[in-house]
Amino acid sequence: MSYRIGVLPGDGIGPEVVREGLKVLAAAAEVFGFRYETVHFPYGAEHTLATGAREIMPPSAIEQMRELDAILLGAIGDPRFETGVLERAIVGAIRFGLDLYVNLRPIKLYAEHLCPLKDKRPEDIDILVVRENTEDAYTLIGGFLKKGTPDEVAQQTMIYTRKGVERCLRYAFEKARARPRKKLTLVDKANAIPAHDLWRRTFAELAAEYPEVQTDVNFVDACCMWLVKDPESYDTIVTTNLFGDIITDLGAMLQGGLGVAAGGNIHPGRVSMFEPIHGSAPKYTGQNKANPIATILAVAMMLEHLGEQAAASRIEQVVAELLRSRRLPSLKAGALPTSEIGDLVAGAVRASSAATA
Ligand code: IPM
Ligand code: MN
Repeated sequence: MSYRIGVLPGDGIGPEVVREGLKVLAAAAEVFGFRYETVHFPYGAEHTLATGAREIMPPSAIEQMRELDAILLGAIGDPRFETGVLERAIVGAIRFGLDLYVNLRPIKLYAEHLCPLKDKRPEDIDILVVRENTEDAYTLIGGFLKKGTPDEVAQQTMIYTRKGVERCLRYAFEKARARPRKKLTLVDKANAIPAHDLWRRTFAELAAEYPEVQTDVNFVDACCMWLVKDPESYDTIVTTNLFGDIITDLGAMLQGGLGVAAGGNIHPGRVSMFEPIHGSAPKYTGQNKANPIATILAVAMMLEHLGEQAAASRIEQVVAELLRSRRLPSLKAGALPTSEIGDLVAGAVRASSAATA
């Protein structure tokens, strides 16, 4: 097979971590015998400032991306721009433009010493979060009235469509059914937000179609408590866009930090986008200090989406071994140089080839 992969390194540490992700992709391609070509997308702060481009990312980029098999994105965000402008014009535009309706974010503890909670083992923290990705407070439906005056009104609408909710829930039920525990928890705030009743009703309807999946419902505030108190109670979680954003940062800490948390922005069967869930970390830019593991795990998720299951599993296994071995002393920036971590993972992917590929 040959894949066309879009690469959008973006801002800050994005280019450095993506470079390491691509190193590992190259190693996996050699070992597992698939081919690929990359298509570079220059969008981000530097590109916008250097070219004086009127649009941060033109609509034609989305059309070009539609022809690809997958996209690897580094990070977007730069303090020289107003908060959120780049993020909405690039990350948001890709999610919405390509209709990537699921944001799949595993929370997996690879090595016990990385967890900030007492006495938690890898088997206690293995959660798959299915975050809805194209609705909620992210649709940009809203605005200001009398901005900057004492009478200012600011309004932002959370929207949920029956179709949008149902397709996300269905995806989550399918994922939950395929996992050993087959448990799915809906996380919402139906006690304060009546619109979340649409999630509850649709969830109950689908539960009848998936009798083998055990279901539960949590309010999001309680979920934050349980994630810290009793993470082993969760298997698969399905939730709204905004709550999914928040609980997966909490989840990343359970894994040891943002340095290991990856996500996929997915439309099943179509071009999808994979990224570390961390930001552009401007203070580490160009210092070869950022941890590229999250991006490397995003590459593994991308390969799984492409159907290269064996390559995906191998990368994940190599990362887990590296983390357990303590060759990477911590997940903190600078624990090992960015490029060295990429070399270690790529080397281990290649080395394991003869025995088990
Ligand atoms: C994420 C990020 C984005 C989000 C930001 C950059 C808009 O925090 O991918 O989790 O809120 O979705
Ligand atoms: Mn986030």
